Amino acid sequence: MARAQWNSQVGFIFAAVGSAIGLGNIWRFSYLAYEHGGGAFLIPYFTALLTAGIPLLILEYSIGHERVGSAPLAYRKIGRRWEWLGWWSVIFVMFGIELYYSVIIAWCLNFFTLSFNLAWGNDPNQFFFQEFLRVSDSPGEFGEIRTPILYSLIVIWLANWFIVYRGVQKGIELANKIMMPLLLVLTLILVFWSLQLEGASHGISVYLTPDFSKLTQPEVWIDAYSQIFFTLSLGFGIMIAYASYLPDKTDITRNAMIIAFINSGYSLLTGFGVFAVLGFMAQSEGKEIADVVNESIGLAFVAYPKAISLMPGGNLFGAVFFLCLTVAGLSSAVSIIEAFVSAMIDKFSLNRRLLVTFVSALGFIGGTVFTSQAGLLWLDIIDHFITHYGLILVGILECIVIGWIFHLPTLRRHINAISSFKVGAGWSFLIRLFVPFMLSVILLGDLIDEFRQPYGNYGWTALILIGRDWLLLTLILALAVSSRPWKNKPQQARQSGQRAD
Ligand code: ALA
Repeated sequence: MARAQWNSQVGFIFAAVGSAIGLGNIWRFSYLAYEHGGGAFLIPYFTALLTAGIPLLILEYSIGHERVGSAPLAYRKIGRRWEWLGWWSVIFVMFGIELYYSVIIAWCLNFFTLSFNLAWGNDPNQFFFQEFLRVSDSPGEFGEIRTPILYSLIVIWLANWFIVYRGVQKGIELANKIMMPLLLVLTLILVFWSLQLEGASHGISVYLTPDFSKLTQPEVWIDAYSQIFFTLSLGFGIMIAYASYLPDKTDITRNAMIIAFINSGYSLLTGFGVFAVLGFMAQSEGKEIADVVNESIGLAFVAYPKAISLMPGGNLFGAVFFLCLTVAGLSSAVSIIEAFVSAMIDKFSLNRRLLVTFVSALGFIGGTVFTSQAGLLWLDIIDHFITHYGLILVGILECIVIGWIFHLPTLRRHINAISSFKVGAGWSFLIRLFVPFMLSVILLGDLIDEFRQPYGNYGWTALILIGRDWLLLTLILALAVSSRPWKNKPQQARQSGQRAD
């Protein structure tokens, strides 16, 4: 079967930017910037981008392009015993991140409609947790399925299904060519609107005033590296699959830099909007910014609704804001499905349409657990384990397998033969030593925290059964799938001419 290809380089850039720009850019970046020294956070953030984000992006693009395969196939072509690593990442991302990520997009869709009549009233906190989610007291108490969320989840999965079903060019590429410009226009409207609000300048000055003393704290650096990792969808297997759809002639390093800078530029831009709104809210309520700022979910579903209720024309502002989140989320969600689908097609030569339909049905059914009253708690635990351990471990192993076991100069030759910006010994140093070292420090820090006290004050049993075991189960699945024979014999690599073993 001929491998799918992007219609154009620009189409690839749109799709990769769509994957990178997601919920994480809008709510997590702004919060981290605030928490870690305002403008000073940009120093660790851009350091992480230059020393880990872009080098790893180049690595993922080049391995996908040179080995011509989704993550499992690319690893398989490096060595038979590494195939499981590719499977593990695409499986835990598809049946972990994708399941709850789609539910969060579903909440955004709900809030989009709720915005029109400001249905959260004057206590958005109470509304979100008690009325909308009806969060139970522990992960074992599922309570009822929240039907409004379930209905939106159906819509989101239909959208996911529709886009991936139509294939690489007519589905993912086309959808992103529509969604990305739309997202930019909506975001610009929001940012300019926010900057007009009273108190906005105070919010902006808090966002940008650097507190350099924070830079001595290790967690500021650790958070910067983790953020770069998640925001560029590294370790997801997405960028490997997306690069495998590129034609022979493509500028790998230039593409990686364009995509990384658009992604970070978008984060910086939304930061202005977020802080202008927080400044407005602090002023309206006569409070300090510190008292109105909120992390991730709290920022979008509690702080923002509160501000929206206070501003003139807030319902329209709210609708645009939640539409932005929905679009940003959807373009990342489809990329996760594609990484998995691409891997299954590579190995088992399955029919895309049947496969996407089956995977979407499974994804929707699996996602219903997050629509129960215990949903938020499950989401929190699984997200913690996957992003803190799964992705980081995959990142470390990726650097070791490609940097040490595979012949890195082969990859460098491949990159330099087709790219305008050449990579040299510095890049090899980053991939072989620096990035795995940084990621190991993050992993170690996380492990120490984990044993110090149970994450989020959940019980150990819940953390082990839901978090750790979710990862272990996906690992077992990965090993099982990689032990199956290939329907399609892995073909030669693109340039280096090395055969698969
Ligand atoms: N890169 C995507 C995000 O930031 C997954 O949300």
